[in-house]
Amino acid sequence: MKAIIEPFRVKMVEPIKMTSLEERRSLIEAAHFNPFRLRAEDVIIDLLTDSGTSAMSADAWGAMMRGDESYAGARSWYRFRDTVKDIFGFEQVIPTHQGRAAEHILFGIMSGPDSIIPNNTHFDTTRANIEFAGAQALDLVCREADDVSTRHPFKGNMDTEALEKLVSEKGERIPLIMVTITNNSGGGQPVSMANIREVSRIARSAGIPFYFDACRFAENAHFIKRREPGYEDKAPIDIAREMFSYADGCTMSAKKDAFANIGGFLCTNDAQLAHRERNILILTEGFPTYGGLAGRDLEAIAVGLREILDEHYLDYRLLSTRYVVQHLEDAGIPVLLPAGGHAVYLDARSFLPHIDPLQYPGAALAVELYIEAGIRCVEIGTLMFGLDPHTGKETPARQDLVRLAIPRRVYTQSHMDYVIEAIQQVWERREEIRGLRIVKAPQYLRHFTAQLERT
Ligand code: F0G
Repeated sequence: MKAIIEPFRVKMVEPIKMTSLEERRSLIEAAHFNPFRLRAEDVIIDLLTDSGTSAMSADAWGAMMRGDESYAGARSWYRFRDTVKDIFGFEQVIPTHQGRAAEHILFGIMSGPDSIIPNNTHFDTTRANIEFAGAQALDLVCREADDVSTRHPFKGNMDTEALEKLVSEKGERIPLIMVTITNNSGGGQPVSMANIREVSRIARSAGIPFYFDACRFAENAHFIKRREPGYEDKAPIDIAREMFSYADGCTMSAKKDAFANIGGFLCTNDAQLAHRERNILILTEGFPTYGGLAGRDLEAIAVGLREILDEHYLDYRLLSTRYVVQHLEDAGIPVLLPAGGHAVYLDARSFLPHIDPLQYPGAALAVELYIEAGIRCVEIGTLMFGLDPHTGKETPARQDLVRLAIPRRVYTQSHMDYVIEAIQQVWERREEIRGLRIVKAPQYLRHFTAQLERT
C-alpha cells in the first residue's frame, strides 16, 4: 500500500471553534501580534508546539488510573524509573516536572560564570538556563545546516572539527558537551550515530561529560534507522540504547517523545553528582521519587516511552511531516529541507526578503498564518535569539524560521491539507506583508511575552 494511514483510531474528540478573517484580525491585534498571547480556543490548528500537546493512548489513560500518589517510594516511581533505565541506560534517574527544570538543576550545579557549553544548537530554554548561570552557550552545528535547501541526511550533526578545536583550546572551561536530538532549533534535523560516536570520543579523551538533550530521541533513532547504513534492520529501541551508551547523562522533556502532557527527567551515571542534584531537586521540585510530578504522570510517561518506539508510529510520524514539506516544496515555497521529524520550518527570510531580519520576518509570517487560517506557529529566529542578554545588543539570528510543530497523533491529513493551502495563500500575497517592531519585551526569553506592532 502507498497510502500512509494514521496507525490509530480516534475515540474521543475535541471540537475546534471556527473564526472568521475579521475576528482573527482583531484577535491578533489584541494579542499585540504575538501568537503566544492568543487564547487557544481562538486558534483553529494549533502548531505552536509539539510539547505536551500529544494525544495519549487508551493504555496511557488507563495507567493514569493506577497512579500511586504516595509521597515517597510510590509504585509509579519504580515503574517510571525502571522504564527510563531500560531505554536510556543511565544509572541515576531524577524526575522533574519538565525538561527545563532538569536543565536548571544541571547547569546550576555544573556551570558557572567562566563556563562554555557547546551544543549542536541550544534550544531556547537550554540557552537561557546556561546564560542565567552566567555561562556561555555555544552552537557548533555542522556547516550543512546553514543552507536551508541542502538535503544532507543528518543536518543536526555537530561540527566535530570545531568541537575538537574548542576542547583543545578551552577544554578546562567546558563542564559538559551537549547534543540535542533531534536538533529542534535547527529544523528538527537528526544527528547520525557516527557523529554521536565522534562527539563521545572527543569528550571522553578530554575527560568532559557528554550529555544528550534527548527530547525527541525516538524520532532521531528512527532517522538513523532509515538513513544510516547498518541500522536498517535494527529496532528503534536498540538504536536508542546505542545512542545513549555513548553519553554520560541526559536531560529529557517527556512532553515530546513520551506523549505526556507534563514531565521530564535528568539522568547521569555519576552518583555523587546525582546526590547534589537531588538536594536541589528537593528544594525546587519535590522528593526524589516524584520530582514535581503526580504518580499518574509517572505512569503515563512509563507507557508513552514504550509506545513512542513503535516502528509503525515512527514511520507514520516521519512520513506525515514529509508529506507537508513535499507539497510546499512542489509549490516553490521556501521550506527547510529535508523534512525534520516533529515540525515543518518555513524559511521566513526567503519568504519575505523585503523585511529586514531586525523587523522579524518570522514573527510577521506567523502573524499572517494566523490571520489567513487561524493557524498558530512560532518564530525561531531573530525575535527568539537576536538579543544578547549580557550586552543588550541585538543582531540577526543565523536564520529566520517559522516552525509549524505537529502535535503527536492529534491532527489528520485533512488538517494538514488545510495548513498547506493556507501557506500557499499567504505565499501569493507575500509582497504586501510588513515587518514588526517591539513595543515591550523582557530580557530573557522575550519571544514568549513580547508585545509587537507593525512597522
Ligand atoms: N530541549 C529541547 C530541544 C526542547 O525542544 C525543549 C522544549 C526543551 C529542551 C525544554 O523542555 O518544555 O519540557 O521544559 N521545547 C518546546 C518546543 C517548548 O516547543 O519546542 P520543556
